[in-house]
Amino acid sequence: MSPGDQDARARIRALVEILNDLGYHYHVLDAPRAPDAEYDRLYRELQALESAHPAWVSPTSPTQRVGGALLDGFTEVRHSVPMLSLDNAMDAAQLRDFDRRVRDWLKIEGPVAYSAEPKLDGMAISLCYRQGVLAQAVTRGDGASGEDVTANVRTIRAVPLALRGAGWPAVLEVRGEIFITRAAFADMNRRQRDLGEKTYMNPRNAAAGSVRQLDPALTARRPLSLFCHGLGAVEGVLPARYSEIQAQWLAWGLPVCPERQVVSGVAGCLDYHQAMAQRRDALPYDIDGVVFKVDEVALQRRLGFVARAPRWAIAHKFPPQEVLTRVLAVTFQVGRTGAVTPVARLEPVFVGGVTVSNATLHNMDEVVRKDVRVGDTVTVRRAGDVIPEVVQVIESRRPDTAPPVQLPAQCPVCGSDVAQLADEAVARCQGGLFCPAQRKAAIKHFASRRALDVQGLGDKLIEQLIAQALIADPADLFALTAPALAALERFGEKSANNLIQALQQAKTTTLPRFIYALGIRDVGEATAGQLALEFGALDALMAADAERLETVADVGPVVAARVIAFFAEPHNRTVIGKLLDAGVNWPPVARPTVDGDHPLAGKTVVLTGALTALSRHEAKARLQALGAKVTASVSQRTDLVIVGADAGAKAKKAAQWQIEVMTEEAFIAALESRWRDIPAPTGAPDSTRRT
Ligand code: IVH
Repeated sequence: MSPGDQDARARIRALVEILNDLGYHYHVLDAPRAPDAEYDRLYRELQALESAHPAWVSPTSPTQRVGGALLDGFTEVRHSVPMLSLDNAMDAAQLRDFDRRVRDWLKIEGPVAYSAEPKLDGMAISLCYRQGVLAQAVTRGDGASGEDVTANVRTIRAVPLALRGAGWPAVLEVRGEIFITRAAFADMNRRQRDLGEKTYMNPRNAAAGSVRQLDPALTARRPLSLFCHGLGAVEGVLPARYSEIQAQWLAWGLPVCPERQVVSGVAGCLDYHQAMAQRRDALPYDIDGVVFKVDEVALQRRLGFVARAPRWAIAHKFPPQEVLTRVLAVTFQVGRTGAVTPVARLEPVFVGGVTVSNATLHNMDEVVRKDVRVGDTVTVRRAGDVIPEVVQVIESRRPDTAPPVQLPAQCPVCGSDVAQLADEAVARCQGGLFCPAQRKAAIKHFASRRALDVQGLGDKLIEQLIAQALIADPADLFALTAPALAALERFGEKSANNLIQALQQAKTTTLPRFIYALGIRDVGEATAGQLALEFGALDALMAADAERLETVADVGPVVAARVIAFFAEPHNRTVIGKLLDAGVNWPPVARPTVDGDHPLAGKTVVLTGALTALSRHEAKARLQALGAKVTASVSQRTDLVIVGADAGAKAKKAAQWQIEVMTEEAFIAALESRWRDIPAPTGAPDSTRRT
């Protein structure tokens, strides 16, 4: 072996170690140590060295997670230690019974130490490490035997291919739950829908479906996570308490749930259950309860098993987030932008902690896809603060007579035509502000707390005012008089005066609030804030063209087009004029100074070609954080063009016009020299992270 080869071999080893260490901090400790671009750079270096020296590729190299071959099925594997289930406690009394049984069996008077952790709603997996190296991954199956899914599980970054540190048993079978966070699930379904592929019903199904793919490369693209929660066969020594074993797992690189805690006695269990029930919606993943395990392993052994569950553990469940109910009717609601949304009226059910009697069906595509009909028995889901939705129809319970739901041809509120544009999932009432539903929603939005914040202007009152023809647009609110209001049914002089005063107060607002209050489609609070900051004045915003608008963070071609269309509409200009005449006003916008000494500050930059180290979103956000403007097309105003791979016309134009050009590498270097100072983008889709 030449000295050069020696160096290469040492470098490969070092890179495997560095990358696995970065992966550990990222996926297991949830505390990244380097920017993604740095990881990607080292990864590419390793890939290059490995392809030059294939003999030195280690099976624990991060490049070895995805093996190319398609599988033609899964082999059945018998679990040497069966994978059991857990007994459930549905309430505090059943939990007390469990604790009493434990103490009676062990003849213990005082409180037992329990290890507590969430019960994850995912897919159970058994991971077998031999001499610290992942040898096999098997599904739970029927508990006695499952399927060998090793090739797929190797692609999951949270699963270490080799254990860290030392002291692991010669054989260590760890059991755990593979799951998907709610955010990653939503993102994944959105992408599946965009590709016209099948979507998953809930995060649990998505996790299970992703692991049981015949193409490991597909599994590799799914944002799967893991928490370990149990043991199978072990040849070697482990600590004496489950809580200590968890700490040991973590040190070996096996992820455990950060919510774990040791509690004392049944009182401690009940406190933990209550605390987690309250945190449930704030957690990034679905849980359906908490699990309590006798912490001391010697006591677990004495307690042993009954039938298919341990005597030393119990799942204390939460109220379900998915339940069955019946569809009583499907009605159509008209929103602020005319969107006609189908809504299922349900037989009321208790789900996710509240009684639900309506669930959104989103749009007609969804109704057709799920084939929801009146009279159907359906699963309804309510998780977190998400609006309740119909997940699935139980077709076997469909009454014979149920016809498919039809989109109404006329708006149920104003009778105008309902039309669906080819590129849109939603159908819209074409009545615009002629439609009372749209008018009402627009006025409601205008007066809402985060917009002009008109106190005391409730839904009912807006309806009344529209019905009496006292208002037809938001500006009419400011023409209301106390006597006119006082003449309304059930509206006294005092309330009338209060409302007039509230309207007077609402006239002094801020530019971001005003822009948001206009109700431009796809311009939420954040975008309104950005627009205000960028343009500083309403007339500048109204005069902006698409190119100028797209320099604003989060504004792409779609939002730019919406803004332009909104201000092009004469009716909207009239309303804005009326609002300003009525005295609506705001203080000048203070524009913060950005990092002016960075070479990219103030530059107008175009990104083109395929970027490999950063996503577009990330690159744009980082540039904007430095005070640069990012535009879509190269023009005379462009200062710099950053070119990725296969850059085409834009790079040519830049050369022609002698605009400065920078490669992606040079750009990364410019960023990395200062990366600690540059805030990471917020709201970047998960897909832009390493997966
Ligand atoms: S302990 C011997 N802990 O729930 C019992 N299980 O209903 C081993 N599960 O198949 C299970 N979160 O896949 C345990 N924190 C947790 C869990 C958990 C989810 C699953 C597990 C098991 C099922 C039992």
